Amino acid sequence: MDKKDLLYTGKAKAVYSTDDPNLVIIHYNDDATAGNGEKHDVIDNKGILNNQITTIIYQALNEAGIATHYRETLNEREQLCEKVEIIPLEVIVRNRIAGSMAKRLGIEEGTLPPNVIYELCYKNDALGDPLINDDHAVTLGAASYEELDVVYEMTDKINQTLDNLFADCSIILVDFKIEFGRNAQGNIVLADEISPDTCRLWDADTQEKLDKDRFRRDLGGLTNAYQDVLERLQAWSEMA
Ligand code: TMP
Repeated sequence: MDKKDLLYTGKAKAVYSTDDPNLVIIHYNDDATAGNGEKHDVIDNKGILNNQITTIIYQALNEAGIATHYRETLNEREQLCEKVEIIPLEVIVRNRIAGSMAKRLGIEEGTLPPNVIYELCYKNDALGDPLINDDHAVTLGAASYEELDVVYEMTDKINQTLDNLFADCSIILVDFKIEFGRNAQGNIVLADEISPDTCRLWDADTQEKLDKDRFRRDLGGLTNAYQDVLERLQAWSEMA
């Protein structure tokens, strides 16, 4: 399958059309951004690592019966995926308190809440992707209430699948962000990458951060951490 036109350039990926109107090629580059693009760097091989990590995760999700955009991995930086219209919402799941929630509500990072926390952000760079609720999402025309029901049901299953998968790798899935799209049939499918760029992943024994917080917080060692995550996932997929 050949790349044709560049359809979209994101912060760390580019999307190309193909000969098939229902399929796109997603290319992972090495850019790292934080703070809505205010902080930017290029980290050698990050795209290659994230492509491989996302591949193993999406294969596991497809196998768990979750509808996703992922079809196959073409090479070290590219995946063939179903073309979708992205729903302009970021769905955030928090199994532990960290990041913006810890800061906003004054809760210590790592706190285990009594319940899983779901948040929605409106995907809009000019507004800084603000935190919204379901009623805002419907008012904005981002999704209907019926679609949100599907999104939450899928998100719950995705969280259970990923939490178990990472636990098998001795990694705590602290929180993550996912996105959904509508395919040509109008069905909602999981889309976009799932990688240490979009999840907080802590080593279960040492609590060491194995995710993009190493870049956001200037901790260094991002490539080694992503490589560690990849190797644990590879070992897991060989056992599975
Ligand atoms: P937060 O604590 O900064 O709100 O982030 C929660 C999770 O969502 C964390 O795993 C990082 C991820 N995330 C993204 O992937 N993209 C984003 O734009 C934001 C705000 C968070």
